Amino acid sequence: MASIISHNPQETLELGRQLAASLRRGDVLALAGDLGAGKTQFTKGLAEGLGVECDVTSPTFTLVHEYHGGRLSLFHIDLYRLEDEEEVLDIGLDDYLESDGVTVIEWADKFEALMPAAVRWIRFGIQEGDEREITL
Ligand SMILES: Nc1ncnc2c1ncn2[C@@H]1O[C@H](COP(=O)(O)OP(=O)(O)O)[C@@H](O)[C@H]1O
Ligand SMILES: [Mg+2]
Repeated sequence: MASIISHNPQETLELGRQLAASLRRGDVLALAGDLGAGKTQFTKGLAEGLGVECDVTSPTFTLVHEYHGGRLSLFHIDLYRLEDEEEVLDIGLDDYLESDGVTVIEWADKFEALMPAAVRWIRFGIQEGDEREITL
């Protein structure tokens, strides 16, 4: 377990970009941390690192964004607004988890029981000012 301090949004983006290089088909990343902790910013970096061209925006309102055309497809899910497990299953979580792209799930800690054992947890903690502690 490695803990890294990001000092600004750009560093968080860069971390995502670097981590993207290690991603493989079928990987699932579970992101945990409060609102504004940098989960979406990190996901933008992942998308850049995978070579996805579209802009990554927060999927809070659409729940799932799919990005194709990069080295691997990226499925970006945000569970913030969901209340119960049934709703999460309704968006097709299991299909994404079994997809051959990379699935990134914001607020995965709200539904920890639904996450497969093999997910990689990444935790974002808000520190003073722009500092974020990111634990991989
Ligand atoms: N070190 C940092 N890493 C990431 N975001 C930061 C950092 N410092 C400040 N910010 C700001 O915090 C916000 C993070 O937003 P976002 O990535 O959408 O968070 P989340 O998806 O976790 O709710 C952005 O407004 C960003 O500019
Ligand atoms: Mg977000």
